[in-house]
Amino acid sequence: MPLLTHPLARRALRPFAALVDQRVRTQTRGTSTELAALRAELDVLKKQSHAVTMLLDRTGRGAHRMPSADQITGLVAEVAEVSGSAHARRAVTSAFRTVVALEALGVGRLAGGTSNVCGKLATIPLLAPPNPDTLEIGTLHGLFATALTRMLHREGTEPRLTIVDPLIGSQLQPDAAFDNADPTGTPVREDVVRANLALAGTALSADGDGAPGARIFKGFSQDEEIRAAVSDRKYGVVVVDGDHSRDGVLSDLQWVEEIVADGGIVVLDDYGDAAWPGVREALETHLATGDSRLRLLGRVATSAFLRRV
Ligand SMILES: C[S@@+](CC[C@H](N)C(=O)[O-])C[C@H]1O[C@@H](n2cnc3c(N)ncnc32)[C@H](O)[C@@H]1O
Repeated sequence: MPLLTHPLARRALRPFAALVDQRVRTQTRGTSTELAALRAELDVLKKQSHAVTMLLDRTGRGAHRMPSADQITGLVAEVAEVSGSAHARRAVTSAFRTVVALEALGVGRLAGGTSNVCGKLATIPLLAPPNPDTLEIGTLHGLFATALTRMLHREGTEPRLTIVDPLIGSQLQPDAAFDNADPTGTPVREDVVRANLALAGTALSADGDGAPGARIFKGFSQDEEIRAAVSDRKYGVVVVDGDHSRDGVLSDLQWVEEIVADGGIVVLDDYGDAAWPGVREALETHLATGDSRLRLLGRVATSAFLRRV
């Protein structure tokens, strides 16, 4: 008879067998308790992630607002390079928070990807514009102007805003990706722009009479009457983001050159963006004349930054 099946041996081994049984049962129970805890934790994480996704994904706006850490680090380096500032990360972070807050609370959207929008918002104030007069050519829903107002104020400048846009109900030259329908469903109208500007509080006095509010000129930046009215001052900042065709941008640059203050900043949006090749062509053509007083400081994401010397 084999030793382990001998009745005496089995009796002697019984306490050990019981101990092993008990250990196996305890471990199995332990494993399923851990599994249940992990499953509960995963459920909580899934809910949290879903809530954050709803805040930041691209539903109802042009682009998502979920940049990777590497993307932000690259953007900070570009902002630092163009502005020469040691506060590029602070500025990019503030810009990002401002974009998320305004797109959540505002009407409509900011146009452009996260690097493009945050790059402009972070860099402009760091370049220390020489005066608070700020002109935006092409405003869409006015949310970029609202965000820029906040960003300039953070750096100590309370901007006086002037806006030029036809505001005819929908965007001219809409982004091809949107299939002619704005992803927000919001019309491009003056009441929408004003509703958004109200989110910047009263830090917008462009009329020179102390009254809060931006000057809004409804029309094309190439219109002579619009140009005459807008050219009543020299601007510390001009954002060129209206007509994106080569000829349209070239015409805007030639005009802007005359109305930007000495030391003033010109931002050319969508420079180097493959979707708008005319923008780069126009700037290259403009600078190639050799008699421009605009100097290219550099590029952040898809915006060119110039200073009038
Ligand atoms: C890309 S959107 C501007 C986006 C806005 N700057 C932003 O960052 O959210 C371009 C705007 O310029 C307007 N636009 C097109 N041609 C224009 C022109 N010649 N003069 C002024 N605005 C123009 C469009 O209708 C649209 O509202």
